[in-house]
Amino acid sequence: MNDPYEASRLVGSSRALNDRFTEIMALGASDFGTLFDRPNVGRSGNRVTLGAPARHEFSRGTDAAIAVLNLATSGYLGLGRDPRVQHAAREAIDRYGTHTGGCRLLSGTTPLHFQLEERLSEFVGARSVVTYSSGYATNISVIAALFGPRDLVILDRSAHRSLYDGATLSRAAIKRFRHNDLDHLERILHKTAGVERRLIAVDAVYSMDADVVPLPELTALAKRHRAFLLVDEAHALGVLGHHGRGLCEYFDVDPDAIDIRIGTLSKTMAAAGGFAAVHPSVSVILRYASTGRVFSAAMTPPDVAAALAAVEIVQCEPRHVARLRANVAHFRAALHVRGLASLGTDAAIVPIPIGDSRSTLDAAKRLLARGVFVNPVIAPGVPAGAERLRCLVSALHATTDLDIAADAIKDVFAEIGLRARLPDSATPPPPRDDAAVPVDSYF
Ligand SMILES: Cc1ncc(COP(=O)(O)O)c(C=O)c1O
Repeated sequence: MNDPYEASRLVGSSRALNDRFTEIMALGASDFGTLFDRPNVGRSGNRVTLGAPARHEFSRGTDAAIAVLNLATSGYLGLGRDPRVQHAAREAIDRYGTHTGGCRLLSGTTPLHFQLEERLSEFVGARSVVTYSSGYATNISVIAALFGPRDLVILDRSAHRSLYDGATLSRAAIKRFRHNDLDHLERILHKTAGVERRLIAVDAVYSMDADVVPLPELTALAKRHRAFLLVDEAHALGVLGHHGRGLCEYFDVDPDAIDIRIGTLSKTMAAAGGFAAVHPSVSVILRYASTGRVFSAAMTPPDVAAALAAVEIVQCEPRHVARLRANVAHFRAALHVRGLASLGTDAAIVPIPIGDSRSTLDAAKRLLARGVFVNPVIAPGVPAGAERLRCLVSALHATTDLDIAADAIKDVFAEIGLRARLPDSATPPPPRDDAAVPVDSYF
């Protein structure tokens, strides 16, 4: 029989697919194949056990299962390990089953869904919240439901892929401004003053650079130009602000200054799901006329229950957010004293610039061999030249875990002969003001 992993007629029919296939297989077959798509064979917390590589395309290595320090997952508060969250999920299965078998509009709603939406509204200070089965589904559903071909969506160059996909699905015109560059954004707003409905869409915390959007200036700009504003709080919810309420709490900005706030439940809230915090009239549109509510199954009962328990814990026990904040500060300082540069300040994401793909993969592999699991981020996840290691800090880490990780990173940098530096090339080349620039980020 032919090799099942030879390119099929379908893959072979497209140059682009064929090139991508060849690229993936080559990475899988390389020394770095064992870095990707490894199964977690235990519970994920400050440590995790990675199973042996399990897929043909990434299984050429010989690594067996290994227990490692986990700085590679975004359960920043570690609440997936909390017995109360686990108990709530189990109880929901007992009461409602593993799934609802329907979309929210028709048969997919349990009382837990209402409770979660109410609890989230209270927590993030929203008048109304609409949930979806993932953060990705939330972004594509919300933007496509509220904007259309006569509108313009203006995205930060580094905005999450789901925002770009939502804008594309809406069939609105798309423009992108240089990352966090409000002067560039303002120039675009001036030039497009004739467009009646414009949406500015940004991340609260950027998942690759770990920087925070300058919200007070952004809300003022949006107001001045009568543009609508959407902020995706995926990496801010449960992280930023004294109580973890997110970006508005962090900057002390009135939540009503943002037209659409998106949150994911997949990071600090220990589940899979997402939500939009909006004005009640907008929520009516989203509930009855957005694709993720009408054409996709509802969040599962265990997910809803886990998220509900997690939000309650974050709300009532500020120590988790405080611990995370202290851990982030500890890790950044630990890197700094070892002469290692990191990007960002307050986010739980700590990127360490390297600047080329091979060294980044090499560093991640050597770290894994030393028992430290971090994300290698290479092009096209970031522009070529801006490759980096990405470390994700959690409230579950002990400070000794973070010191061990910082020591290992320092040693690996020395082994490979890497200089700790801030990348000049981290800033991508400026997009043309008047063009929709093709997206190249998968993250
Ligand atoms: C900024 C941002 N928005 C949305 C998402 C998608 O969220 P989910 O994983 O819940 O689909 C992510 C996930 O990585 C993200 O980082």
